[in-house]
Amino acid sequence: MRLALLGLALLLASPAVAQDGDARAGRRLAGGRCAVCHGNDGIAVQPDAPNLAGQNPIYLAAQLRAFRDKVRVHEQMNLMAAPLSEADIANLAAWYAAIEVTATPPGR
Ligand code: HEC
Repeated sequence: MRLALLGLALLLASPAVAQDGDARAGRRLAGGRCAVCHGNDGIAVQPDAPNLAGQNPIYLAAQLRAFRDKVRVHEQMNLMAAPLSEADIANLAAWYAAIEVTATPPGR
């Protein structure tokens, strides 16, 4: 009981960030619509498209909302984001964030 209350307190204390997404649902959504530019694995396949793999989910969700609401202007992305629900955005963000990437800076 005490543990449950502690859990609840932690839950309530956490900042109101994006809802938890379902990476599998995000993967299904991304595979059809987003992969043509951002790649099946979140590594972009178009020269002007950014990699999304391993990106911070809070940042991803914020950008998708900004595109959807046309706060961030980019013709293609405004079109792609227009029909996305809050759940879609959370799921897409969870999917791309779940892809593991490693960074290897160039040697000197
Ligand atoms: C026709 C190609 C294309 C498709 C399809 C597409 N994107 Fe994009 N996306 C882009 C380009 C190009 C940019 C860079 C926009 C800019 O320069 O501001 C971008 C930017 C983004 C960004 C911002 C990344 C950052 O680092 O700020 C996110 C997130 C994103 N796309 C997600 C998606 C998702 C999710 C889908 C599917 C629903 C999708 N995109 C479909 C081309 C595409």
